[in-house]
Amino acid sequence: MENPLSYRDNVLHIEEVALDTVARRAGTPCYIYSANAILCRFRAYDKAFGDQAHKVCYSVKANGSLSLLALLATAGSGFDIVSGGELFRVLRAGGDRSSVVFSGVGKTAEEIEYALEREIHSFHCESESELFLIDALAARLGKRARVAVRINPDVDTATHPYISTGLRQHKFGIDIAGVEGVYERARAHRNLDLEGVSCHIGSQLLSSEPLLEALDHLLALVERLRAKGFPIRYLDLGGGLGVPYKPGEQAPSISDYIARMCSRVGGRGLTLMVEPGRSLVAEAGILLCRVLYRKRNGDKEFVIVDAAMNDLLRPSLYAAHHEILPVRRDDRRGTIQADVVGPVCETGDFLARDRQMANVLPGDLVAIAMAGAYGFVLSSNYNARPRAAEVLVAGKGWRIVRQRESYEDLVRGEVV
Ligand code: LLP
Repeated sequence: MENPLSYRDNVLHIEEVALDTVARRAGTPCYIYSANAILCRFRAYDKAFGDQAHKVCYSVKANGSLSLLALLATAGSGFDIVSGGELFRVLRAGGDRSSVVFSGVGKTAEEIEYALEREIHSFHCESESELFLIDALAARLGKRARVAVRINPDVDTATHPYISTGLRQHKFGIDIAGVEGVYERARAHRNLDLEGVSCHIGSQLLSSEPLLEALDHLLALVERLRAKGFPIRYLDLGGGLGVPYKPGEQAPSISDYIARMCSRVGGRGLTLMVEPGRSLVAEAGILLCRVLYRKRNGDKEFVIVDAAMNDLLRPSLYAAHHEILPVRRDDRRGTIQADVVGPVCETGDFLARDRQMANVLPGDLVAIAMAGAYGFVLSSNYNARPRAAEVLVAGKGWRIVRQRESYEDLVRGEVV
């Protein structure tokens, strides 16, 4: 399923479900995800590996909703987590703890203990002090910890500077130039099994070249580490594959990317792992909202909707582009050029700027496309706005998988 969205009789549908039907029962703003679009992308990854030993570990940070995690767990996905909270979510959703990898530069002792007790697959370590801490905590709990060092391969990626991670100047990973020494020194840690190498060089990459370049660096490193006696069994290349947010943009195909990856690795006795987030869920989701008002200030036209930067932060934070689609298409109305903004009291609160779009009017529904990744997870209660509801669609069926927050939810845990 390339795109779960389509117009039928001029009404926008996700899979077989008309979006106005969902709005009537679930209200707006509301995130809506297509289960089949997610499964289709997961299977594209999984199948492309063919006979190559592999594990696809969905990156929970992209969208941690329990219903999505459960869907992917049932399909056989592993999980890439960056916090104890994400591990809790994966376990609550029925995910397999033995296929969880734990990334992140700032794991706390409590989080490491929690993950050791649950016997996850491995820790991806980003500093020598972290290796030291994991070893000490494993000793105390009588556990062994499988670890991979997260390598910073110093590969440049043409993506937004906030989501590029693979250069020496970034906080992530350990510089490839000195990493063999790190493995050598870690031999002294008796409770660690140094069996992997990992990296993640950035996100929203519209070419697979930098990823394959990083892979080549890691494969050469694996040879050097094996020659030193380290039993390196797996290589995790992280996530990063982009999606075409803008019309005309081209993203690499999942199966081509994986096929190219496998052809470079074949026959080395390595298990390959990837940690896709965005490329599994972005295109599967929309943020449905309703137009509240139209107004004009000088030359500028504004469409004010009931979703805001607290619901979808990507436009404000990364100047990200999301297509805005009317739920009811009416070509007679023509188009406008407008800023689509929300109710939050910030000039930076916008969902689109100077956008040529359908001439929508107060009361109309609009869908903000490709909002399945880094949408709900980045939402907040800023301006005391309850967080949106979430809906999962499969074929003709749909259900609310997260209730809209209430005012009571806003004050839970607070005292006067
Ligand atoms: N693995 C690690 C270690 C990561 O740090 C990330 C993303 C992923 C996997 C998944 O990458 P993906 O396949 O989704 O590109 N909030 C930003 C994206 C931040 C990405 C952070 N790390 C955005 O909305 O564009």
